[in-house]
Amino acid sequence: MIGRLNHVAIAVPDLEAGAAVYRNVLGASVGPALEQPEHGVTVVFVDLPNTKIELLHPLGDASPIARFLERNPSGGIHHICYEVDDILFARDRLLAAGARVLGDGEPRTGAHGSPVLFLHPKDFNGTLLELEEVTS
Ligand code: CO
Repeated sequence: MIGRLNHVAIAVPDLEAGAAVYRNVLGASVGPALEQPEHGVTVVFVDLPNTKIELLHPLGDASPIARFLERNPSGGIHHICYEVDDILFARDRLLAAGARVLGDGEPRTGAHGSPVLFLHPKDFNGTLLELEEVTS
């Protein structure tokens, strides 16, 4: 059901320092910082040949990654995102399998303008999963 790895999201306490590691140390193609107030984050996209890395930093008071950074002060992998063809089909199959979909279970518009859902880490080996509908 799942397809390509769309991105790995890494929460960072210092966005400039995090971006500099990817740009200067790892030699990656690193974009500008983009504020996404509707998601409570500022994001830097790192383009790799086969996927993306998203460096996330809290934006605003109710950022979904603020608590994560409190528990992981030097940053860490926050979630990974898999592509699916049909997000409602994927959701219904996961719910039927007993997996927990976060929030009200309805897809939201994600960071790339496509429908996304998040799945409970306890159902997936301790990893927060994001599913993104990608129609190509
Ligand atoms: Co994501």
